[in-house]
Amino acid sequence: MNGRLQNKNAIVTGAGTGLGRSIAETFAREGAFVVLIGRRRNKLEQTLQSIENNGGSAEVASLDVAEIGAMDEVADRLAAEHGKVDLLVANAGIVIAREAVLETTEEDWQETLRVNLTGVHRSCKAVLRHMVPQRSGNLVTIASICGQTGMAKRTSYGASKFGVVGYTRNIAVDYARFGIRANSVCPGFVETDINREALHNMRSDPERWSQFMAHNPLGFGQPEDVANACLFLCSDEARWITGIDLSVDGGYTAA
Ligand SMILES: NC(=O)c1ccc[n+]([C@@H]2O[C@H](COP(=O)([O-])OP(=O)(O)OC[C@H]3O[C@@H](n4cnc5c(N)ncnc54)[C@H](O)[C@@H]3O)[C@@H](O)[C@H]2O)c1
Repeated sequence: MNGRLQNKNAIVTGAGTGLGRSIAETFAREGAFVVLIGRRRNKLEQTLQSIENNGGSAEVASLDVAEIGAMDEVADRLAAEHGKVDLLVANAGIVIAREAVLETTEEDWQETLRVNLTGVHRSCKAVLRHMVPQRSGNLVTIASICGQTGMAKRTSYGASKFGVVGYTRNIAVDYARFGIRANSVCPGFVETDINREALHNMRSDPERWSQFMAHNPLGFGQPEDVANACLFLCSDEARWITGIDLSVDGGYTAA
């Protein structure tokens, strides 16, 4: 297979569903070997099957990205068995509740930050330990439009995603001298497991729905729209791009 990520070894977190699955499939199609990370082995195996059916290669590791040491083991094994760690897309994320500050529970706050921010930190730290001595590497973190602009009832989620954007910029600054780039992708609305129920509820109120859609000039995106942005940032065409947060949002932040 000949592609833009030929001979690259990649790790994609949250690869069993939604955006992560599409990112993993896109990277494999472009020639990368992809380690598929997530919590549910059966979902990861579906992604693996789809990659293999299309002639790509990947493997599955089922774990919690925020657990101390879990991502270190994955990166160490990839380096030991495949020689190097080239690419990370830190995509795993959760939405527990949609609430303003006064309704936000301690549990929601702690768990959202644990997965969305600590999980990204542990994933990035795990690969940087290999990328620095290699003097090369490329990280993409999946933040959100909620990491670029305020939105109603996104207290914990918004805080975690603004955190991801800031965290990623710091990596860009600290590790550029090692030939490492780091960027965030900030998706707008793509209908996936994370928001299906909330979007369904909104659709049942036509007035609310039409106001909401006025903020989405190009409508909703597809998972591959986000995957293609990740592919661009991980490719050599983006070699002078680091520390950005790229809106991939159908015009949401503009509107
Ligand atoms: N869909 C959208 O509209 C949208 C918009 C902006 C940002 N995002 C972000 O995109 C990313 C992917 O979301 P999605 O829309 O594909 O939803 P999704 O729920 O389909 O995917 C999230 C994946 O992350 C995995 N995951 C969650 N917690 C984990 C953990 N602790 N360890 C390992 N894996 C874990 C889940 O199992 C799931 O497969 C998330 O970070 C989300 O915040 C999505």
